[in-house]
Amino acid sequence: MGEAWSTVNEGRQWRRLMEMGEIGAIAGPDGAQGVNRACLTPLDRKARRLLISWAAPLGLKPSVDPLGNLFLRQEGADPDAAPVLSGSHMDTQPNGGRFDGIYGVVAALEAVQALREAGVKPRRPIEVVAWTNEEGGRFAPGCMGSMAYAGYRPADTWNAAEDGDGVRFAGALREHLAAEADLPRRPLGVVEGPAPHAYVEAHIEQGPRLEAEGKDIGVVSGIQGSRWFVVELTGETAHAGTAPLSLRRDAVQDMVRAVEALNALMRDPSDVLRFTVGRIEVSPNTSNSVADRVRFTIDFRHPSADVLRERGDAIEATVRGAVRDCGVAVTERFNAQPVEFSPAVVGAVERAAKAQGLSALLMPSGAFHDAQFIVPLCPTGMVFVPCRKGISHNPAEYSEPAQLAKGTRVLAQVLAELAG
Ligand code: GLV
Ligand code: MN
Ligand code: MN
Repeated sequence: MGEAWSTVNEGRQWRRLMEMGEIGAIAGPDGAQGVNRACLTPLDRKARRLLISWAAPLGLKPSVDPLGNLFLRQEGADPDAAPVLSGSHMDTQPNGGRFDGIYGVVAALEAVQALREAGVKPRRPIEVVAWTNEEGGRFAPGCMGSMAYAGYRPADTWNAAEDGDGVRFAGALREHLAAEADLPRRPLGVVEGPAPHAYVEAHIEQGPRLEAEGKDIGVVSGIQGSRWFVVELTGETAHAGTAPLSLRRDAVQDMVRAVEALNALMRDPSDVLRFTVGRIEVSPNTSNSVADRVRFTIDFRHPSADVLRERGDAIEATVRGAVRDCGVAVTERFNAQPVEFSPAVVGAVERAAKAQGLSALLMPSGAFHDAQFIVPLCPTGMVFVPCRKGISHNPAEYSEPAQLAKGTRVLAQVLAELAG
């Protein structure tokens, strides 16, 4: 028997990633090839079937829970032992890349396959997991699958969430489960079943640090907190050529006032805080009518729970204080608290990188991940690999095959250790 990780196959993993990248392929600027694979769509299902087809010859058994989370289980020598979970998500941003999410799923499968090929027979079952709707790109917010699995929110919380075409999450999920009716069903996570033994997620870093510092592996210490809000401003539409400015209730002008005030609220000379207005919907959205309605999103992140609470809780009052003419409604739709990963998993990732002669950096994650919601259930951690210029949520996202393989070798050793 060789080392547990030595059989990770760089070429096989790369070919799988490239094949997945064809499912929902889009052309980006400068010849980049990205992916638009929204959750619970036929493309999502096609990718899931491809994953299942790779897992089947290895004897991994698929099952699907009520949120559509997909599991591929390798039995352990002790089938009654709590399983070790590893995976990530298969959905992408509308203008996404070929690695965000899918790398963690393909890497988990590659790690399981490599352990088998190395003759490692873990005591615990290992389950490769693909969480439903991590991105929140089609149905906001993200991480619905992992939040429901963990019991952080009831499974019906997002039933009324609508995509850009007015399709409701509940309907899309029903259609999806019907399309996967041939796959065995399983209970919903710790809401209906036992907790896993541990969870490890591999992911591209999505930031520039590992590349800039020349490191192979990010040993992820934890994840900063995120809060998402939707702000709706309601005024009155009017003729752009005739309505005097003094009589208007212009939702766009009030949006500008609100965003200026929010920028002041979110000012942070240390540049740690993240504040993004990423989506603006204007109605009626024509150049010669005053807007009667603006709906905009806020994505606010910080590693400190106190800052997240204080400034996040001040958002509504800040908007109300800034607008002049419009009605205001502020809705919070995502609240992920900052988390620290388990020393047991962080230590295992550190040890594996060291044993394999890889350079590693202990670092927090700025992006949120499904791992954030698994933290309360079991020892949890993540492995990051560098990506070019830190670019992500962009068709130009890229990570070298060799870098991805290094991350998977670390993952394989960590899974072998945790699964015993
Ligand atoms: C995940 O995609 C995030 O926005 O952090
Ligand atoms: Mn991701
Ligand atoms: Mn993402």
